[in-house]
Amino acid sequence: MDQQPSTVEKRDQFGSRMGFILAAAGSAVGLGNLWKFPYMTGANGGGAFVVIYLLAVLIVGFSLMLMEFALGRNTSLAAAGAFRTLDNRFTFLGVMGVFSAFIIMGFYPVVGGWSVAYVVKTLTGELVAGASYDAIFGTLISGTFTPVFWTLIYLLMNVVIVAGGISGGIEKAAKLMMPALFILLIILAIRSITLPGAGAGLEYLFKPDWSLVNGGVVLAALGQAFFSLSLGMGCMITYASYLDKKENLVSTAFIVPALDTLIAILAGIVIIPATIALGFEVGAGPGLVFVTIPAVFATMGATVGRILSLFFFVLVVLAALTSSMSLLEVVVSYLVDEKNMTRKKAVTLAGIVMFIMSIAASLSMGAWSGFTIMGNNIFDLFDKITTNITMPLGGMGISIFVGWFWGKEKARGEVTNDGTIKFKLFDLWFFACKWVIPIIIGIVFLTGISSFPG
Ligand code: TRP
Repeated sequence: MDQQPSTVEKRDQFGSRMGFILAAAGSAVGLGNLWKFPYMTGANGGGAFVVIYLLAVLIVGFSLMLMEFALGRNTSLAAAGAFRTLDNRFTFLGVMGVFSAFIIMGFYPVVGGWSVAYVVKTLTGELVAGASYDAIFGTLISGTFTPVFWTLIYLLMNVVIVAGGISGGIEKAAKLMMPALFILLIILAIRSITLPGAGAGLEYLFKPDWSLVNGGVVLAALGQAFFSLSLGMGCMITYASYLDKKENLVSTAFIVPALDTLIAILAGIVIIPATIALGFEVGAGPGLVFVTIPAVFATMGATVGRILSLFFFVLVVLAALTSSMSLLEVVVSYLVDEKNMTRKKAVTLAGIVMFIMSIAASLSMGAWSGFTIMGNNIFDLFDKITTNITMPLGGMGISIFVGWFWGKEKARGEVTNDGTIKFKLFDLWFFACKWVIPIIIGIVFLTGISSFPG
């Protein structure tokens, strides 16, 4: 396995700069923004969580995104291969990333499956005014066959897209999905903030109450930034490995986190004010989107509500797809680059393992709900292992590698395209890689990890 992979010469590339930005933003924008960010905000007290989240994106997110882009493009190899060729003592970081991708794909397709199910529920008219939304959601997630069936459908969509390769599959899909997503969210946000009583929700979202903050909240916000930006596990290394040497990494590393954050905040503006205005519970947890949103839409009149609801869940599915296919791609490119598998075989194998894990995660909210480890069911366990542990530690490892081992001049050469691109903040960025980010992650991790038991 140590010789150079034979796939290097004919390595696929993104067809255009816009294609790459959209694909990277497509990876970042997903269930993390639309499903997780609003309910994490609601569960962690509102404004203060949002402020800490924004700081995490600003200080850690931008810098780490640029590091991952630089490592991937420099080597033209997916995470494990990138570290192996640069310094094989760090290969474990890439392998840990493949592990994270597998674990995330052990629960992400479950939520993707719920989203597909809600598209169908909207179409069949199950989510009409007066329906019991709690019961509908509860029945779906605690079922045995139904949620597993939708998870399978969702995973198959990923497999088909990723089997198509980079420019053929992922790029085309992202080009179509991202703009549609953005427009639909704007429409929904306008609807939400014009509801009578929406002001209280905006206040909840943007007015921090610092008394609610503890180590667990800060780690949750940091982990959420990693999750939402697809960082800390080599996903952006892998995407950037398909990138042309002429691309401007610095500007892309600003655009992608900015877009992702915009969409997360927009999702918060769609969901939180509407939830509060209509008297629902903001701290409802993972069910927030699925329980509250249909109820919100149903109060807008049968036809309009139903159309908006359909828009919304289609949008959730599309955004989820462009994210989970990047996770699948991390695993697939590892198998292709490192294990010399064909793309088709790698996709099939990874898809099967992910399906088996997803079955376990799905059943952990129904038939297997009695089975817990440290107070977490399998679904929560998969989420917390990655969000609170492997991704922050992976991010710390990547910045230690860049700051202390790869070194300043190699990093400078790669991010400035050998001096042809101006990057005024280079010294500040490198200082952040070397000192600020490892120390911040270390402190936050140690103070927050005690909240792991659920
Ligand atoms: N960022 C995506 C979301 O917000 C999920 C995701 C895709 C991801 N690729 C990742 C998370 C890599 C962590 C690491 O839904």
